[in-house]
This record gives sequence, structure tokens and C-alpha cells, in this order.
Amino acid sequence: MTGPIDLARVRADFPILDESIHGKRLAYLDNAATTQKPDRVLRALDAYYRHQNANVHRAVHELAARATAAYESARERIAAWLNASRDEIVFTRGTTDAINLVARSFLGPRLSAGDEVLLTTMEHHSNIVPWQLAGAKTVAAPVNERGELDIDAWRAMLNGRTKLVAVGHISNALGTINPIAELIAEAHARGIPVLIDGAQAIAHESVDVRALDVDFYAASAHKFYGPTGFGFLYAKREHLEAMPPRDGGGDMIRTVAFDGSTWNDVPYKFEAGTPDISGAIGAAAALDYIGALGLAAIATHEHAVLDYATERMRSVPGLRLVGTAARKSGILSFVMDKAHPQDIGSVLDMAGVAIRTGHHCTMPLMARYGLSATARASLAVYNGTDDIDQLIDALRTVNRLFA
Ligand code: ALA
Repeated sequence: MTGPIDLARVRADFPILDESIHGKRLAYLDNAATTQKPDRVLRALDAYYRHQNANVHRAVHELAARATAAYESARERIAAWLNASRDEIVFTRGTTDAINLVARSFLGPRLSAGDEVLLTTMEHHSNIVPWQLAGAKTVAAPVNERGELDIDAWRAMLNGRTKLVAVGHISNALGTINPIAELIAEAHARGIPVLIDGAQAIAHESVDVRALDVDFYAASAHKFYGPTGFGFLYAKREHLEAMPPRDGGGDMIRTVAFDGSTWNDVPYKFEAGTPDISGAIGAAAALDYIGALGLAAIATHEHAVLDYATERMRSVPGLRLVGTAARKSGILSFVMDKAHPQDIGSVLDMAGVAIRTGHHCTMPLMARYGLSATARASLAVYNGTDDIDQLIDALRTVNRLFA
């Protein structure tokens, strides 16, 4: 059992939090864009390059054996985290790459003219555009004013042309936690496979792909305290077996001849070329880190900070939260009467507060609310009420400057 979060100890794990920003203490509240990396991950990356670096699956020398063992151990740990088996985990460059792989190799070959992918209005561009590139018609179920999916409308949009349902587990722009188990069960009752974009979820929610019975689940390591440029696709083995490879190159083949080639077993047939070996090792170290803290403890801590932030932000004159779903993760999107999000971001930066501003790669969602952009604070385990107080002070400065 793990105990409650000891904020001082957790913060000591993240060296970058000691950075001084424009002479101010750093309040890093841009975690939905990317999280900071704990010592445990930094040490794993360093140890890999100092003591294990070699290519994987290729040579018999000692370093190659160490690299391959570390790399495949990472796959085992990522699979175990999701309650999957190791051959169902395809390593990718991230969530975007994973979704593009499903679009190209799974959906594309199954599409006829007019076939649809059913989305929600709150999807990230990376859960919209790949389906369009594959040739599907993208349709999206509406969200209400609070940023919750209208499930009745979503259900009514499932039809004989729906070839796939694709939904974000947690909205990056609103924080809404979608009822994915219910959506998966309903889609499956109609024989429709489901992809979940888990980019925002892994650091905050437990994910059991078997219990969910989900067909595809995609995520990125850098959003769960791991390195950038690495992610994974979980897919049911039957789907991986049926999908053609997307990329050709080394390691994805069984035999190669000029009159044709044959493919390696899954998941390797989707992993052409030298992979991001350190990325896999860093990602597994990040899951070890989350596991040591305990996801339940992390969730309790983050929800307390979210509640505190929500209440304090409501007290700032002229500030309106965008996204107030009943089931919400630690993401606070907002607009202010007096200042554009870009200006808010700049004033906050001078106060040491890092947030994201813009459309958050969710243009259809912004259009739904009649906005071009929001400012967004997003939480991680190392955030506390002091970060929120620093944010609120800076927001009051915004009001003063733009009065
Ligand atoms: N998708 C990431 C975000 O929401 C980059 O900021």
C-alpha cells in the first residue's frame, strides 16, 4: 500500500521544479502539454546510455543483450500496467503516431465510400485528422455547456456506416473524463470497434484494457512523466494479426527477397527501423515511478488541488471556466473578459506561472463554445495549492493591467 502524497518529497524528485523563471518560483501548470521528468526517469535514461547502449534484436554481444533485455522488459512492464500481454503493445512515437497506425492499417483497408468514424466534439486534432486522411467521414457527437458528452445523441449517431468509434479518455482542453466503459460496451453491442485516445489519462486514471474490452488504446510517455517521442498502441492481438504493416524496414520482416517479403510476428511487424530504445526504458521507469506513488494517492491529491483551484478561480472577477463536467481531471480551461488568452499567458509567464494558451489542437471544440482560444492550467502530482495561489495572484495582475 502506498500512503498519501508527500508533496515536498515528490517535488524533490523533479529537479526542473527548482528553476527560477524571470526571478520567480516556477509554478508549472502546463502538464497536459507535457509533464516534467522525475529523477528515476532521468537516471534510467542516463544509465541506458552509460551502461547498456547498443541496438536491439540484432547482435550477440553483451551490450546488445543488455539493451534488448532492458527494451523488452519495458514492453513487459507497460503491458502489465495495462493488463495486456506483451505482444499486444506496439511501440510508437506517441499517441498521434499510434492513431495514425490504426487509421492506415486497420481502418483504411476496411473503408467504403461514405463510411464513418464516430467521434465527439471534444476530440484532439490527432483523433480527427488521421481518420480523414484514411478516407473516412468524421462525425462528432455534441457536448453540453459543461463539456460533457451527450450520450443519447452519441448513441443515436451510431449506424450501419459507423466503422469505428474513437473517443478521448480525458479531454485535453476541458478535463472531462469520458465514460469509456459504457461507450465501448454500447459500440460493441453493435459490432463496432473502439479506439480510446488515452494521451491525458495514464498519469491520472488506472486503465485495464481487458476489463474495458477496448480494441485500441493509445498513449504518449511524455504525458506520464516519461520522455518525449515515445508512446504505445495497445491493440487486441486479432486486430494486429489482421493489420498490414504501415512502415517497411529492418526488424519488421521475416524474409526479404526481390520478388516479395514476409512479415515478422506482432508487434514487431509494426516497428520498422531502430526503435526509440531509451524512450521505452524511460517510459517504463515513469510507470514504475507512478506505481511507487500509487495512482489512487495521485488522484486524491490532484482532485483536492483541482477543487481548490476551481473555487479560487471562480472568485477572480471576469474569469469564466470552460469545462465544468461532473467527472473531471485536473485541467482548468478559462477565458477572461478583459484579456486575450495570449496576453494572459504572457503575464503569467512573467510571474513564473507556466500555462498553455491557444486552441489546444481542438478547433471544433473551440467553435462549439464560440471561442478561438482559451488559457489552460493543467495539474500533475507535484502541484499544490501554493501553485494555485501563485496563479490566482497573477490572474489578479492580469485584471489590473488590462483594467
Ligand atoms: N495535446 C497536448 C496539449 O493538450 C499537446 O497541450
